[in-house]
Amino acid sequence: MSPTPLSKMGFILTTYILFFFFTFGFATLAYSANPQFATKTYIVQMDKSSMPHTFSNHLEWYSSKLKSVLSQTQTEESETESSRIIYNYETAFHGVAAKLTEDEAARLEREPGVVAIFPETKYELHTTRSPLFLGLETSRSTSANNLTLWSETLADHDVVVGVLDTGIWPESESFNDTGMRPIPSSWKGACEVGRGFTKRHCNKKIVGARVFYRGYEAAVGKIIEQNEFKSPRDQDGHGTHTAATVAGSPVRGANLLGYAYGTARGMAPGARIAAYKVCWIGGCFSSDILSAVDKAVSDGVNVLSISLGGGVSSYYRDSLSVAAFGAMEKGVFVSCSAGNAGPDPVSLTNVSPWITTVGASTMDRDFPASVRLGNGKRMTGVSLYKGRNVLSSKRQYPLVYLGGNSSSPDPRSLCLEGTMSPKLVSGKIVICDRGISPRVQKGQVVKRAGGVGMILTNTEANGEELVADCHLLPALAVGEKEGKELKRYVVTSKKATASLEFLGTRLGIRPSPVVAAFSSRGPNFLTLEILKPDLVAPGVNILAAWSEVIGPSSLPTDNRRVKFNILSGTSMSCPHVSGVAALIKAKHPQWSPAAIKSALMTTAYVHDNTLNPLQDASSDTSSSPYDHGAGHINPRKALDPGLVYDIAPQDYFDFLCTQKLTPTELGVFAKYSNRSCRRTLTSPGNLNYPAISVVFPEKTAVSSLSVRRTVTNVGPPNAKYHVMISPFKGASVKVEPEILNFTRKNQKLSYKITFTTKSRQTSPEFGGLVWKDGVHRVRSPIVITWLPPI
Ligand SMILES: *[C@@H]1O[C@H](CO)[C@@H](O)[C@H](O)[C@H]1NC(C)=O
Ligand SMILES: *[C@@H]1O[C@H](CO)[C@@H](O)[C@H](O)[C@H]1NC(C)=O
Ligand SMILES: *[C@@H]1O[C@H](CO)[C@@H](O)[C@H](O)[C@H]1NC(C)=O
Ligand SMILES: *[C@@H]1O[C@H](CO)[C@@H](O)[C@H](O)[C@H]1NC(C)=O
Ligand SMILES: *[C@@H]1O[C@H](CO)[C@@H](O)[C@H](O)[C@H]1NC(C)=O
Repeated sequence: MSPTPLSKMGFILTTYILFFFFTFGFATLAYSANPQFATKTYIVQMDKSSMPHTFSNHLEWYSSKLKSVLSQTQTEESETESSRIIYNYETAFHGVAAKLTEDEAARLEREPGVVAIFPETKYELHTTRSPLFLGLETSRSTSANNLTLWSETLADHDVVVGVLDTGIWPESESFNDTGMRPIPSSWKGACEVGRGFTKRHCNKKIVGARVFYRGYEAAVGKIIEQNEFKSPRDQDGHGTHTAATVAGSPVRGANLLGYAYGTARGMAPGARIAAYKVCWIGGCFSSDILSAVDKAVSDGVNVLSISLGGGVSSYYRDSLSVAAFGAMEKGVFVSCSAGNAGPDPVSLTNVSPWITTVGASTMDRDFPASVRLGNGKRMTGVSLYKGRNVLSSKRQYPLVYLGGNSSSPDPRSLCLEGTMSPKLVSGKIVICDRGISPRVQKGQVVKRAGGVGMILTNTEANGEELVADCHLLPALAVGEKEGKELKRYVVTSKKATASLEFLGTRLGIRPSPVVAAFSSRGPNFLTLEILKPDLVAPGVNILAAWSEVIGPSSLPTDNRRVKFNILSGTSMSCPHVSGVAALIKAKHPQWSPAAIKSALMTTAYVHDNTLNPLQDASSDTSSSPYDHGAGHINPRKALDPGLVYDIAPQDYFDFLCTQKLTPTELGVFAKYSNRSCRRTLTSPGNLNYPAISVVFPEKTAVSSLSVRRTVTNVGPPNAKYHVMISPFKGASVKVEPEILNFTRKNQKLSYKITFTTKSRQTSPEFGGLVWKDGVHRVRSPIVITWLPPI
């Protein structure tokens, strides 16, 4: 068996679970018996440049502003404005986070110099697990990129990737710094100490480790307790996993209970990691996240990897979007997970154009397991079960399904806590439907009721996407079709029986990659003209380092301890892109975040290893740019893209000027009050984005639309590019000019694409535009939408 490259591990959420989390994510929290005096955390954005000269520093000014609005009747005498301030933001964002009553917040909002006030919001990690309720889930396969050699040639560089997550497990062999050069003197980060974490836990690989908990403590109304590490140490596993996926050092013989055996390594094994712990047992909060981004930017990170998200309401209300704008202005590349709320359409988070939004896809590896039924029929599924008391694969065990039938489903089929009677399942293999609770937890319910095994069956939402989990009892997952057949067998036979068999790791799965069913989907409901997600990367069954204080299933009852775990989620795909961005940054230190994103997007591929268009696991049909964006990352090509679509911070600001924001809302992004709308961008579709989405308005009179793009030559000085464009049923397309003749490096040339409606289509049409010079292929996905006539 050849060693498996970098990424491995899998974790999947059901749509139901995710939906719950995301809904929860919108909630703002308030505590206190007396609502009139109840304080909650507000993020207060200040216009730094309007500080009167009478103040010697910004914090002093912010404090005096705060003092002027504090209620006289408020609580103890001793409370001062400074005890209300939990953070002071200085780099990516300017202002403070402070505990205020609603009245105080309202008064403060009217004060001159105050740009905006956001209430604290809660964010979620983008695996399928909640910090409270750790239910590990995984899914199948993965697409093997042969990254080993070329990324090692870029091993010696000083790129630092900041990972906002649950902290880090520093003893993991993935963070061994043997052979790394000294930390660059430009790095200003720190190694914060606390329970279970000392200065010696940082090294040349983990160059920074900080904690952000003031917003969390204020929100939950209590301080972090002894059962939680109030330090960068990762109690959860998620942060260790994502950090190792970005930049873990190679570790030979890595595996999870024998599964996925091989060399584990991050995408950029030469890059440094700075861990910013923002997620705690009770969740991740916006004031902490904002502070972490602010600190990370001033520490000097080059890339930020953020595998979490909340609800998307608007660009300016989402503090992650605002913080990422500040980071982008300072030249920091920000990649974020797209969310796990697929396959429902319009389920994306983190859609701001200055963020790289990453969906998840499979690799060419899975973990087969099989069921043999009493009637001799055999079915294949997947599993990461490994245990000493494995069922005998030769013996047949009684098989039960408590779920009635499809016309009259029984809620017991979901195998939720408290629904399972030992009388019905003891000594038997139990069929459970996916949904509502974490998959591994269903297995625990069956085990506690005396069941000897479990078969987890997909529902319609999951289709044939298989999720391999590190179950506590012999168990496997099967697709929807097999599930139906299995249930039919149980209903129609007098004595249904089955045996289970676990077959290890299988490579070379075709087709792959496939867009994961759980990966959140477009369109981008904030701005249809900005296609999202941007791209997909491996996010199913990803193996990477793990915390040693929690079992691989993440269930509190799981006493197994492992050094590596297999997880799935867009949380896992995001750090793949962050790591590749670090490699690009190492090779091209001068490139802007937009140039790096362009390189990743224009070199992405849209065909799988059977040469067919990328499939969608939820439907078993071709996926579209609403599922995969520009396609699947192609790291080697991304280092040499030929041309890039660059975007400067002011261009992004001009884009915001097209978004009908009020001057106050725009002010949230104009850090210095001197940034103003240039009005050169007439439509959001003209932002120099590497993807093209044109929207014909409701008025049928508009039959022709043009967008402009400018490409920068980052390949050889003399290069001649020809355009190729896919045909569309609903529109004819004209590109002017059709040849771009470059004569210098970094030369910029513009082109115009005109779409003329031939026949309005009722659903969007997808295609692509490619500039080719014989060596490079610079591809942009195209979406044409005709809004229904009024
Ligand atoms: C990976 O690349 C190396 C060098 O380019 C090559 O020798 C090796 O066979 C490749 N492995 C796979 C699985 O393609
Ligand atoms: C780090 O790796 C080196 C080289 O493989 C090894 O000699 C050393 O023991 C490792 N350090 C730790 C702390 O495991
Ligand atoms: C489904 O189950 C219900 C309740 O047990 C029963 O009345 C019905 O006949 C069953 N339908 C089929 C198609 O088996
Ligand atoms: C705004 O002012 C700052 C500080 O004076 C300056 O560095 C920056 O270039 C200005 N930005 C614009 C868009 O004028
Ligand atoms: C491209 O530009 C160069 C320099 O201006 C010129 O010599 C060459 O003929 C041009 N080629 C084409 C095909 O236009």
